[in-house]
Amino acid sequence: MKPINRLAALSLASVLPLMLPPVVQAAQSQGAVEVVHWWTSAGEAKSVGVLKQLVEKQGFTWRDSAVAGGGGAAAMTILKTRAVSGSPPSAAQVKGPDIQEWGRLGLLTPIDNVAKANHWDSLLPETVADLMRYEGHYVAVPLNIHRINWLWLNPEVLKQAGVAKAPSTLEELYAAADKLKEAGFIALAHGGQPWQDTTVFEALVLSIMGAQGFNQAFIEHDAQTLTGAKMTEVFTALRKLQGYMDPDGTGQDWNLEAAKVIDGKAGMQIMGDWAKSEWTAAGKKAGTDYQCLPFPGSQGIYSYTIDSLAMFKLSRKNDTPGNNSARDTLAKVALEAEFQYVFNQNKGSIPVIKGLDMSLFDHCAQASAADFADAEKAGTLIPSMAFNMSTSQAVQGAIFDVVSHFLSDKNADPSKAGQQLRSAILAASH
Ligand code: BGC
Repeated sequence: MKPINRLAALSLASVLPLMLPPVVQAAQSQGAVEVVHWWTSAGEAKSVGVLKQLVEKQGFTWRDSAVAGGGGAAAMTILKTRAVSGSPPSAAQVKGPDIQEWGRLGLLTPIDNVAKANHWDSLLPETVADLMRYEGHYVAVPLNIHRINWLWLNPEVLKQAGVAKAPSTLEELYAAADKLKEAGFIALAHGGQPWQDTTVFEALVLSIMGAQGFNQAFIEHDAQTLTGAKMTEVFTALRKLQGYMDPDGTGQDWNLEAAKVIDGKAGMQIMGDWAKSEWTAAGKKAGTDYQCLPFPGSQGIYSYTIDSLAMFKLSRKNDTPGNNSARDTLAKVALEAEFQYVFNQNKGSIPVIKGLDMSLFDHCAQASAADFADAEKAGTLIPSMAFNMSTSQAVQGAIFDVVSHFLSDKNADPSKAGQQLRSAILAASH
């Protein structure tokens, strides 16, 4: 380069920052973090907005890559395409055993420096910490613990339908649903999407087969349990519950179904506690405007999923010191008390770090934290199959298919569904 050009370039470089607004300057100089997630409902967007704000407060840019679709199947498809084409995001919502899968592919980057500086080993329960490490290195940060086996109720609707007592057994659930239907309400708000179908199926497995039965079927993939009489009972109960589901629910998003319970059109919804984020966003109060109960018959069992952000190796172009600090900052603030309180209060989950004051949470979250501790002691903590905690995506997808096909074929035989489940799991495991 001739001296004159270098000079011109230098002077341009020194003038350029002055021409930019101050915020953009800070962000550009400090780097950006791109996050792939599927938090797009009103309550979810509000929750993730807290993380965005905290990252931006440190002067970094947040690139939001939200992919609509509850349960995350659409987001996972996009993530795979991005990873294969060599342009992964900095972080993506990846859970449970999938973190190991991405680790094995060599696509994740360690964040041990952040974990060490912020004492994650003592901050996190060991089971959670273990899930976040690949070959001993932290490659993901957990955000929360969501309970799945919940039933959400609108007490005013139940009262109008003459339901005197919130259901605590399957028989009581059917009786309440009958009354709701007779009174002209939608008994069960439910969106007919595979992951929502399997949420109901999983709740029934816990209720009918217990924690041990669940483990034998969905962790050990034991043939007898998968094809036995109890599994037939589960599919028979699923068919019965189908008769109470929203007739307009085909393909419907979970949050639009939650809105029907909130607006008093429906009485109940079987959904993980992100459902609470919609009630909170609508300004409703736990315990008065709505009730949360463990899914009937599954009291004492706690099925859970842990939202976590896995950190991806950046492409050569994006692998700058600024972008790396932006990612480290994201990981750091995610486990700080400030974020854990506000995020989980909005999201409906409970904090993932130890020692936070639960009196600052509503009664559903307090019940959730107490039930989690009890289930941990009793050995009835269940990593959710429907929410990526106990199976690979391939096996999970195979189960989704069997359950949704069963629901879409009204003549399907409940006593044959277990065999289909077994074959599908076997095929997907190889
Ligand atoms: C996630 C939740 C999310 C829900 C609905 C689940 O897989 O764990 O964070 O709110 O899907 O989109």
